[in-house]
Formats: sequence, structure tokens, C-alpha cells
Amino acid sequence: MFVTVLLLLVTLCAQRGNGEERAEAQRPGHVSVVIVGGTGDLAKKYLWQGFFELYVNQVSSGNTFSFYGGGLSPADAATPVLFEILKAVSCSKNVSQDRCALLKDQYLRLAQYRQLKSLEDYQELAKHIEQELQQEGITEAGRLFYLSVPAFAYADVSEKINNSCRPTNGAWLRVVLEKPFGHDFRSAQVLASQLGSCLKDEEMYRIDHYLGKQVVAKILPFRIENKKFLDPIWNKHHIERVEIVMKETLDVKGRIPFYDQYGVIRDVLQNHMTEVMTLLTMRLPMNLSSSEEVLQNKLQIFSSMLPLGKSQAVVGQYQAYKTAVQQELNKTKDHVCLTPTFAAVLAHIDDAQYEGVPILLISGKMLDERVGYARILFKNDIFCLQNHNSVHCKPKQVVFYFGHGSLKYPAILVSKNLFKPVLMDGEWKEVTEPTDVNILGLPISDYYVQTPTEQREAYSELISHIFAGRKNSFISTENLLASWGLWTPLLNSLANSFPRIYPGGADNGDLLDIRVKGKDIGYNSEVVIISPDQMGDMSAKGFQVMQGKFRGADMVSAWTEELVERLAADIQEAAEAAVHQGGVFHLALSGGSTPLALFHRLALHHFSFPWRNTHVWMVDERCVPLTEMDSNFHGMHDHLLQHVRIPYYNIHPMPVQLNQRLCVEEDGGALLYEKEVSKFVNGSSFHFVLLGVGYDSHTASLFPGSKVDEFGESLVALTESPVKPHQRMSLTFSAINRARTVALLVMGKGKHELITQLSRVKDNPDKWPVTGVKPADGRLVWYIDYDALLG
Ligand code: BG6
Repeated sequence: MFVTVLLLLVTLCAQRGNGEERAEAQRPGHVSVVIVGGTGDLAKKYLWQGFFELYVNQVSSGNTFSFYGGGLSPADAATPVLFEILKAVSCSKNVSQDRCALLKDQYLRLAQYRQLKSLEDYQELAKHIEQELQQEGITEAGRLFYLSVPAFAYADVSEKINNSCRPTNGAWLRVVLEKPFGHDFRSAQVLASQLGSCLKDEEMYRIDHYLGKQVVAKILPFRIENKKFLDPIWNKHHIERVEIVMKETLDVKGRIPFYDQYGVIRDVLQNHMTEVMTLLTMRLPMNLSSSEEVLQNKLQIFSSMLPLGKSQAVVGQYQAYKTAVQQELNKTKDHVCLTPTFAAVLAHIDDAQYEGVPILLISGKMLDERVGYARILFKNDIFCLQNHNSVHCKPKQVVFYFGHGSLKYPAILVSKNLFKPVLMDGEWKEVTEPTDVNILGLPISDYYVQTPTEQREAYSELISHIFAGRKNSFISTENLLASWGLWTPLLNSLANSFPRIYPGGADNGDLLDIRVKGKDIGYNSEVVIISPDQMGDMSAKGFQVMQGKFRGADMVSAWTEELVERLAADIQEAAEAAVHQGGVFHLALSGGSTPLALFHRLALHHFSFPWRNTHVWMVDERCVPLTEMDSNFHGMHDHLLQHVRIPYYNIHPMPVQLNQRLCVEEDGGALLYEKEVSKFVNGSSFHFVLLGVGYDSHTASLFPGSKVDEFGESLVALTESPVKPHQRMSLTFSAINRARTVALLVMGKGKHELITQLSRVKDNPDKWPVTGVKPADGRLVWYIDYDALLG
């Protein structure tokens, strides 16, 4: 079908814009574009328009195209729908009416609808593409599949593409995916591995449409161009705070089935706003077009971030949300719905450049205005005695204005009391016309303002990048997982939090104003509006911490978040008492996944905890190099130690690697650690030992059948685990039971059965190792969350 149009198109290559190195390197030829979900909302609103713009720009490039809208409906029903959408595409201002009509006509003739439901449908599509290529005798450049379908269908569609639609002869395959990419770290990891089994990383283009926004895409170039002005001030000594704000006026009516499972943090903070934050703070790459370097610099920011916990966030929900949920999800009136539609989060990057600089990420639906921006507010140490209106005394700021709001166009604004920025490349212009607008506390006349000469939709921009194979505007797997790694603990900790209910629009008044208090954030006003029916049966759960007895020892129980908070507070209390008494606190920490939540919590006790006087010891270690993910020390480092100010010489990793080998008896690693304990710890009696319990009731690395008696008086021993890595080094019961306090932390529904069993069995450390924990002169406390205790 594309023959006639093809003849019109094959002309000599035209010039292409800057940075399209990859596009030039790729051979021209025929490109098949397939939008799976081609009649859906996104396709209708942005994608067909974006591909039309691509087509118009490529008309004289030597490439030819065919476009397929795919969907589950049969072709006879969906074809008219597709063509209605296609007819609505438009040309930019600089294309004449006649030419526009011609291009649109071509575009329509190159497009067709295809049912894409079964594997056979995909096979048919591939056959069709190949037949046309053969008939026309043209070379294939590549195939671009845009998956505009719900995320649950990604794995299935990718598998079908992999099985039937891969091009041959060196042509490329690109598969474009839209968020949501999972709803937490685990699910993102599962999805990534499912997709990874069908598609190579370089074939996947994960879209975050914010990276296609002109202002967002210019953050790095702006920082580079203005390096000489920014270098001296882009740091903790000069930046007062960073704000990344995305206010929306709309509600989420019609999107509830999606939104109610996600909420504002997953919907926009984890992706759009996090991306903006990394672009603002990452180390500048030497080579901006190196996606690898950009990614590595971004990842560095993630690894330097302080963990986010409940005290770093406030959440809200607009009043009408609940009714919308009842209607759209068919819920009864007493349905409890805690999904936040508003969130303000306080983040910190714990490195030499940004340490202590508050980074606020704020977004919400049903707010008073629609506006999106990132502002870097600088400290102003000038005090104007008489003329408060003098430019020196006004806010000093750089604003990346994404659009909407009072300015109406995207722009980068630099307050005139900072510096005059370099004018960006030809696609940007300076705005000098006077307007009577005020942007974030300053009249526009107090700024140097630059804006794109032509406004382009984010999707159109990204589609051209996909076509050019430019990967640095897309989200790599590592980037995605790093971001979920940051947000998942916060999402978990907020799971039972009641959002503050707000009326919506201008009526919100100052209800959502926030206040930063050191490392914590809170609402400025104390009013908490929760209607009684919002509480529903959640109220029955209660949130208090409960005290009791378990196996004859003390027990503290609560919901996970409160439990961890309580344990962290108890450790801090023990630390303060020990330091007060003897100037030092010896803390032995267990490995595994249970303590991670505690590590996050302790990392937040950044300033108040006596870290300087604390020695951190290990309860156990796996016989792997410390640099491996499996290593307990590695986990402890990433989740706790790197975030607190503890002297290096107070940290005592277990010497599992000696003489370039792992845990060999004659290397005497266990004995070495024992000597270190005896040397530093008074009477080898730790002040506090934190233990977990495995499903088989092992604790530390003392497993059932370990014959613990054989360790005699040794404090440290090499042990064997039934699971990999099998070899371990562990404190023995002799060491553990000398401690002043031993805490046993047990969390999660999965441990309920174990807890039930443990409540009945007699002491038998060979079979139930944890029953061997019996501090001789110290205190044992069980910290069991409600899930583990009550199932
Ligand atoms: C989307 C979110 O990713 O971004 C929406 O799912 C949100 O909830 C939208 O409204 C905002 O994008 P923009 O471009 O309008 O700022």
C-alpha cells in the first residue's frame, strides 16, 4: 500500500539537528511503526500526533514508513476509530496548508489497523511486513513497537514480539514502554526480569514523558553552559533548598481503577519528580550524549540519598476521592481508602556537595492551580537596611518552569541578582517583552528568561529520540530499580497512614502548607481532618505499641513501622546510657533482610544518635567477599553505615576473607574476630545485640543441627547453612548470651507459623536454635510485629 507514497518520499538525505549521531549512523531504510493499543487514550492524545511529526521530519531523510495501529478489537470495528484519530493530527505553524494536507494524506495512506490478540496475529503482522519489503525491494531499517497497553500486558506482548516479529538482516527492534513499571522494588524487578528474557536492554525504551519536556531536557545543558556561574554556588554553602513541585487542579475521576492502586507517590514522585531531582543534582557528565555516563552519575545520587521514612513525608487526599472510589470500584460506604492524592516529601543527599540541603518534592491533585517547576533557592546573606525592595534583598533563584501556571509557556528563569545566563542554542530565545506576571515571589522583570522558540509536546520529542536511538532520555533498568529502592521503604511505611483530607481547589487554604523540621517534615497546621467514616474498621486495628511476654521474656508488639521506630528508639536509649556511663556503646547487628527497615530508621537518627561513640559489630557474615550484594556487611554499609557519621575504626566487619580465600579454618578468621571483641568490648559483653529469626528458627548463623555445644567457650565460629552461601561466620551463644540486651526482631505474616510453634516448644537449641538465646545477666526482648504475632 505504501508504494505510491514511497516514490514521493525517497529523496536525498536532509540535514538533521544536533546530537543525532546515532540516527546518522543507522542505515536508512523502511521503518515499521506499530502502536499496540493504537486506539487508546494515550495514542489518541499524543502518539499518533508524535509519529506524524516524526514522519514530517523524516520525509526527505531516505527513510520510508508504514504505521500499524494494533488492538484487541477486530479490524472492521476498530479501523474507523483509528482513522478518526489520524484525521485529527496537525502540522506545526511553519508547514503551509497545502503541504500539510499532502503530508496528512500520505500519513493516512501509510497507516492501517490490525487486530493483535494472539501469537498468530503477530506472526501475520511480521509476514505482512516482510512481504511488503520484498515486493517493494527495499531494505528494512527497523521495527518500532510502542506498547500503549496496561503494564500487566507488557510481558505477554513482548514475548509475542520476541517470538514472531524480530527483524532480520541487521535491522533494529525497539520496544517502547510506558509507566507504571511495577508498583514497588520487587514487582519492578520481576517485570524487568520478565522483559529481560524477551528483549535486550538496548531494545527497550522506557518512557518518562517528563524527560521529553523541553525545560526538563535542558536542565543538564543549562548547567553545563552556565558552569562558570553555577560551579561556585551549586552546593550546600549556597543553596537554601530545592523545590520540585507539580500542582494539578484536576481530580482522578475515570482513572480510579489505576490510581487507587498507585496514588500520587507512585504516579509522579517515583518517576517524573525523581528524574528531575537527579538531573538537578547529579555530577555533570563529561559527555552529555553518553547515556552510560549520565546513568552512572544518576545512580550515584541514588546511592547517596538518605533513606526516606514516615517522618520525611506528609500525605493528603481530596475529599471527593472516597466517593469516586465507591462509584468506580463498586465499594460500600465503609470502605477505607488511604490512597494519597497529595504528598510532600523531604529528601536529602548525603554527600559533601549537598549535605543538609532540603529537597522538597511536592505534588497533588485538586490543588488551587496547575503548575510545574523546579526551583533552586539560594541563600541570601545581604540585609538591606533601608530599601527592602532593592534587588539584592530579593530571592536569588533559578527556576525551571515546566509549563502551565501564570507564565503559560515553559521557561528557564534566573533571578537578575544571580547572573546573566548564557543564551541557549538556536532553539531557545530570550524573553524580553514586559509582562505583568509574578513568578515565585519575583516579578518577571527581575528575571532573565529563556523559552523554546517553538513549543513541542514531550511525546513528539521522545518519539524523535527513539527513532534516533538516543537512549539517555529513557529509563534504564538500573535507574528504575534505584528509584524504587528509594521509594519502596517510604511507601511501605505509609501503608497504614491516614492522609489529611482536603476540600480541593482554593478552599484548601493553608491546610496543605508544610514545615521542614531538621530532617523531618510535617503539616504546618495541626488540624487533622479525618471523617469518622474514613476510619472504618481500620480503627479496630489500633496503632499502639503493645507490651507483653513471649517465651517468658519481654515482648514488644506493634505494626511494622511503629515496631521498628520503637526498636530504634530503644537502641538509641541504650546507646545514650552506655555512652553516659562508659563513653562507648558496642552494638552487634545481624544480617539478612529483616533488619533493613531498622537500618533505615537508624540512619535517620543521623544527628541525635551517639554514632561517634558507637562500635558496630557483626552478629554473622556470609563467606563471600564484602563487596558482594550477598554480604551482610555490604547490606549494612549501604543501608546504614554510609549514612551516619561513624568513625571508620569503630566499624568491625567479620574477617571472612583472609589470604585471598574465604572462611578457611586454618586462616583463623573466627579467632581473630574473637580477639578483636575481647580487646575492645569490656568482658566481651556487647551492650546490645540485634538478632533476627529465620523460618527454620535459626538465629545469627546458628542453624538447626549446628551442634552448638561443640563451640565450647568460643565467641565466634565458622558454621554451615543449609542455603547458599553455605559457609558462615557467626557469634556463638556464648557471645550472644553475655550481652546486656538482646533484641529478637521478627516481622511479616510469613513468620506467624514460626511464632506459633515457638510459643509452644521447650528450649532445644539443636532443633530450635533461637531457643538458645538466654542472656545470662542481660535482658532479652522480643520485637514481633502484628503480622507475625497475629498472622
Ligand atoms: C502522568 C500522571 O504521568 O503525568 C498523571 O499519570 C499526571 O497523573 C501527569 O497528571 C502530569 O503530566 P503533565 O505533563 O500534565 O505535567
